[in-house]
Parts: sequence; C-alpha cells; structure tokens
Amino acid sequence: MSLIYVLNGPNLNLLGKRQPHIYGHETLADVEADCRRVALEFGHGIRFHQSNREYEIIDWIHEAHEDAAGIVINPAAFTHTSVAILDALNAFAPPVIEVHISNVHKRESFRHHSFVSHRADGVIAGLGTEGYQLAIRRIVSLTKPPA
Ligand code: DQA
Repeated sequence: MSLIYVLNGPNLNLLGKRQPHIYGHETLADVEADCRRVALEFGHGIRFHQSNREYEIIDWIHEAHEDAAGIVINPAAFTHTSVAILDALNAFAPPVIEVHISNVHKRESFRHHSFVSHRADGVIAGLGTEGYQLAIRRIVSLTKPPA
C-alpha cells in the first residue's frame, strides 16, 4: 500500500473552534477520517500530521522522500513566509498539492502570495475541508500508471 502524506501547518489543530465562519465546523480529526476513507478507496494509506513548528513540517517532508506517493499540504500561515518549506518540497519529486480551506485570494493581500505554490503541482483554495479529499484524488490520478 503506498502512502500519501497529509501535512498541516500552524493553528490547524484548532479547526472547528477557530474562526468557523472562515474555516468551518469540521475538526482536524474529521478531516483526517475523510482523508483516510478517500485514500483507502484507491488502496492508499495516509500519514496525517499537524504541527505549529516549521521544522517538524520540514522533517516530515524529508521522511516522505522514503516512502510517499505524494504530499497534500496545507502549510497555513507558513504558506506566506516559508522558503524553508519550499526548499524541502523542491527536493521531493512526487506530486505535491497545496490546499487552503479558505479562498486566500478573497482575503488580506498578505495571503495572496504563496512560497509553496512555486513547487505545488496544483493548488486548491476555498473549497472548505473538501479540498483535502480532492487533493488526494488528484495525487492518485497523477501517480496512476498510464492504462
Ligand atoms: C489557510 C489560509 C492561511 O492564510 C492561514 O494562515 C491559515 C489557513 C487555509 O487553509 O485557508 O492558517 O491555509
């Protein structure tokens, strides 16, 4: 069973409680369960992580080099600040899909720039927590051998 890493940045542990008018009512545990179900439909497993510390996210990207078919990442606020996360993703060859629960382009201008988008193969923003499931489907279709 190949693995898809689903990585979440700072404050996403508060999902469900944090600004629900922006991020919705689902918790991160709900998102994890949804991701696991969708990945399993395609015979994939997931490694699901969240951290408020940039270095932990970088370490998980390095770990993904060993065994991941792809990475779904919501870097949260690190999206807009982290060259280090971009560098780690640039060293990772399989597909990377960037997810934002909110439509960052409809929000403050400092959220309009993403370092991670310089590497991501696709970006999903504003589709709520459903974006994670769609990102997993996209990783599966990008990694499927041609028929
Ligand atoms: C976010 C958008 C970011 O701008 C913000 O810092 C987050 C969450 C999103 O999922 O919409 O924490 O990545």
